Amino acid sequence: MKVLVVGGGGREHAIARALSFNKETAIFSVMAKRNPGIAEVAEEVLVEKETNVPAVIRFAKARLIDYAVIGPEAPLEAGIVDRLEENGIACMGPTYAAARLETDKAFCREMMNAHGIAGCPAFRVTHTASEAETFIRNYEGDLAIKPTGLTGGKGVRIMGEHVDREGAIRYARSLSGNVVLEERLIGEEFTLQAFVDGKHLVPMPLVQDHKRAFEGDQGPNTGGMGSYSMPDHSLPFVGRHDEEKALAIMKDAVAAMEKAGFPYRGILYGQFMNTARGPMVIEFNARFGDPEAMNVLPLLESDLLSVIENTVRGTLSASDIRFSNKATVCKYVVPEGYPEKPLTGEELNIPGKPEAILYYANVDERNGRLFTDTSRTLAFVGVADSLDAAEHIAEDAASSVMGRVRHRRDIGTARLLEQRIAHMQELR
Ligand code: AMP
Ligand code: GLY
Repeated sequence: MKVLVVGGGGREHAIARALSFNKETAIFSVMAKRNPGIAEVAEEVLVEKETNVPAVIRFAKARLIDYAVIGPEAPLEAGIVDRLEENGIACMGPTYAAARLETDKAFCREMMNAHGIAGCPAFRVTHTASEAETFIRNYEGDLAIKPTGLTGGKGVRIMGEHVDREGAIRYARSLSGNVVLEERLIGEEFTLQAFVDGKHLVPMPLVQDHKRAFEGDQGPNTGGMGSYSMPDHSLPFVGRHDEEKALAIMKDAVAAMEKAGFPYRGILYGQFMNTARGPMVIEFNARFGDPEAMNVLPLLESDLLSVIENTVRGTLSASDIRFSNKATVCKYVVPEGYPEKPLTGEELNIPGKPEAILYYANVDERNGRLFTDTSRTLAFVGVADSLDAAEHIAEDAASSVMGRVRHRRDIGTARLLEQRIAHMQELR
């Protein structure tokens, strides 16, 4: 079978690596920039913007691609799945209309509201600057201010965290178009990803990402600095009841999308805040998380190609999909100055052969040498029987890298985990 992986980051390297274990699978890739890790396992690579849908279609048709897996959100928003499917290429990824769960935050909240789906914070969609201003001025309590469209995870401002009330008003006024204003949620975040075939949903292990640039959750938001998962596929600050509730919310969202005439197929990513009232939805994404894909895919014991086949056929079943009971810790290595003023074009070296899995991301490879670019450079993932052991594997690898790069040393450490647990106990 020929599988086209769309996208060239760490997440897509993880997808390509998982596909590469099946020797019957020929991997093809479209990516805006050559990812050396994907190139190594791919039969052929097209270096092209993933949103250039006509170019992707030409390449896929000429190579007689059977299935496409869409990594990032931008091509989903460009309608890549609709066009591929018109050309007879089945996709792991939702259509334009279904991907609005991620690409249009107003659509997502209104859909949750209309179908009475639990876990939806109080919200208001505003259409003009003055409407936003009035709402923010009169609202009692803190709000999250969100542009409705895609912002690479960097568009949200939280009152009491990034901005005060006046700052929130200024920010909302600076956004053109609709703005989602929603109740600020307090708690601990976690990610629940699932394979979805339109009707059935099969969950993957829970993961916790770390958005902030610096240790102790300080500094600006990033695309995600790293993440971890536990051997039991849960998280110590998420109870069994919370996990069941989060899964029920995701199932309800899938059923609502089917009912609304936009059946959802692909990966559904639920970003939850576990609050004093239980899990609340921060957002849905229409794809694997980056970094979260790098946690769950190394644990997948089942063949990813057969998961894709069952997804497109509508025959997904939890009994066919197994994840090993190990812990994972993923640490992104990023250029110094990231995300605000990343040092680009800096050479980095990886001495020796780390025990961790190495995933390439936004890196330039020239004549066998590696250089930083503007975004996250590469990631290391430790997989082991305990979180502690997985953390050591990832940390040893990340701290061995030479060059003007940095990473968060605290991700996956017992200390950080205890803080999360204590925070949750304080709230409940
Ligand atoms: P998003 O782009 O929706 O993933 O939001 C980025 C980050 O903003 C999330 O990971 C949360 O940390 C935070 N966030 C978003 N919405 C809320 C909310 N309603 N309450 C508190 N934090 C939020
Ligand atoms: N890890 C956050 C995201 O993929 O959106």
